[in-house]
Amino acid sequence: MTPEQNDLRNAVLPLLRRITKCRTRISKRKARASDKLKGQPVRLSFFIFGGICADRAPQGKTNFCFGCVYGKMAGDDLPTERNCIFMKLEKMDEFFAARIEGYDEHMKSNIEGASGFYAYTAELLPREAKSRILDLGCGTGLELEAYFAKNPSAEVTGIDLSEVMLNALKAKFPDNKLNLIQGSYFSVPFGEEQYDAAVSVESLHHFRADMKASLYRKLHAALKDGGVFVLTDYFAESEELEKEYFQNLAELKKEQGLSDDEFYHYDTPLLVEHEMDILRQAGFRDVRIMKQWGESTYTVLSAK
Ligand SMILES: C[S@@+](CC[C@H](N)C(=O)[O-])C[C@H]1O[C@@H](n2cnc3c(N)ncnc32)[C@H](O)[C@@H]1O
Repeated sequence: MTPEQNDLRNAVLPLLRRITKCRTRISKRKARASDKLKGQPVRLSFFIFGGICADRAPQGKTNFCFGCVYGKMAGDDLPTERNCIFMKLEKMDEFFAARIEGYDEHMKSNIEGASGFYAYTAELLPREAKSRILDLGCGTGLELEAYFAKNPSAEVTGIDLSEVMLNALKAKFPDNKLNLIQGSYFSVPFGEEQYDAAVSVESLHHFRADMKASLYRKLHAALKDGGVFVLTDYFAESEELEKEYFQNLAELKKEQGLSDDEFYHYDTPLLVEHEMDILRQAGFRDVRIMKQWGESTYTVLSAK
């Protein structure tokens, strides 16, 4: 083989490998879709082409992506990047920084249950003046808007990877008591018996069960006796899908040569029952679903 032929081979082989993997994902989706549609023919929705990706594309850009088209062809109506078989993984903080403009509006109008769950989540947090609250993945503080309206003297510690999100939060609440920490909640120390309650909304569905096990132990220790943890998030629709999300992420990381040391934005929700087991094993009691929002979003309350 000449060096040119070798170069060509090296360029073409990974592409072929990728196409084969994509075909496997498409077949899996088709199987799931026809299961869901009970043998009805799978509809082709080409008009959706580009629209879904544009929803999550970095500001000012439109992703015309065949990944969405394939997702739709397979009858998979999961919106956004979970449909995309060609997606390029972005680092977690960069993903959110690139989408800060219009972020609040996007969350409120496109996320399942969001028109109700922010207010409901805030309702479950303590009303006593100067309550100390820990918010994991606080972002721009959508859950805090409703909470500060009810309890303006609350003292909130918010942890988030993204400086851009934290800056937006700070600008929203100039008069409230906020302690904002830029970092990962897996590595930032929480202290012992510091908080009356903790909250997390739409952030923890990116992580593995083993990571959550140690995080929840640390969180349990950080709550005062009788403190509560309010978790509102979206969860896997089935055990099969839970596995598939993690497999897809592992494949995408391998294909794109990415390490396990960084956080990349890719949804890997657990089954809500698995999440609740991890909370119980971490020491929480009375772990229960307070409300379900649409098909796969839940508010789970746990107590220390
Ligand atoms: C979808 S946003 C939700 C933000 C806010 N809670 C809300 O509902 O609007 C997810 C947030 O979690 C943050 N995040 C993800 N992984 C994190 C980690 N390991 N540590 C801290 N923040 C994290 C992201 O930076 C992002 O701001």
